[in-house]
Amino acid sequence: MGTIVAICSSKGGNGKSAITALLSVNLAFAGLRAAVIDADPNGSFSTWHRTTYGGYPALSVSQCIDEDEIVAHALEVSGQHNVTIIDTAGFRNQTASFAMGVASLVLIPVLPDRHSLIEAAKTVRQAESVSQIARRSIPCRILLNAWNPRGLAEQATLDDIESFKLERLPTAIGSYVAMEKYTYSGLVPTSGALGKAALEVIEHIHSLVGIEAWPPPSRANLSRPKS
Ligand SMILES: Nc1ncnc2c1ncn2[C@@H]1O[C@H](COP(=O)(O)OP(=O)(O)OP(=O)(O)O)[C@@H](O)[C@H]1O
Ligand SMILES: [Mg+2]
Repeated sequence: MGTIVAICSSKGGNGKSAITALLSVNLAFAGLRAAVIDADPNGSFSTWHRTTYGGYPALSVSQCIDEDEIVAHALEVSGQHNVTIIDTAGFRNQTASFAMGVASLVLIPVLPDRHSLIEAAKTVRQAESVSQIARRSIPCRILLNAWNPRGLAEQATLDDIESFKLERLPTAIGSYVAMEKYTYSGLVPTSGALGKAALEVIEHIHSLVGIEAWPPPSRANLSRPKS
């Protein structure tokens, strides 16, 4: 079974779908078999993939919003892929709980904003409850998003993370125009600062829970198809 990463938060609009796009495209670009399960009833990710994404690198995307089906679906998909990312809805929902239950790792995007952090703390508690039901520890990490390392709100959010005793990945994703407009452009960077941040996050996931076929053979061997 491949690695399953559930991207969750009871707060809407903090970058779950954008981070799903960033990680899945970079995993696929590195030559891994990457799948996305869109578990948000809004279907934002799958609509983007169907209508706007350029199609390279190839991603396997499916939709599953049913809490009674998500576990079986995720297990089936993860059997055929190195990494499966589940993009969940931005409100408390049972499908997200079941996605956590089947996940190798739960990632919770947090913006430099107190509301975002408070909701993240609730999402961590939700993952802890799911861990208790599943009788296994489900690792859970905050992923700082749209982050300016020198910002004041960022510093206050880091203080909150410490006082709430939340665990976070060391890498933060900055605020990038490319992340703002990928929904229109269909383009997700695999190079530059954003590509580097994506690779760092993937490395952290690998060191926490392991990713089959990671690290990939030299990226130099990967070339874009001629159009
Ligand atoms: N690092 C970033 N830099 C700049 N813009 C970003 C970044 N991350 C996300 N965005 C933008 O913020 C908006 C919200 O992001 P996104 O849709 O990914 O959030 P979400 O958590 O999936 O929302 P929902 O809960 O509604 O599903 C989008 O316009 C997205 O392009
Ligand atoms: Mg979304």
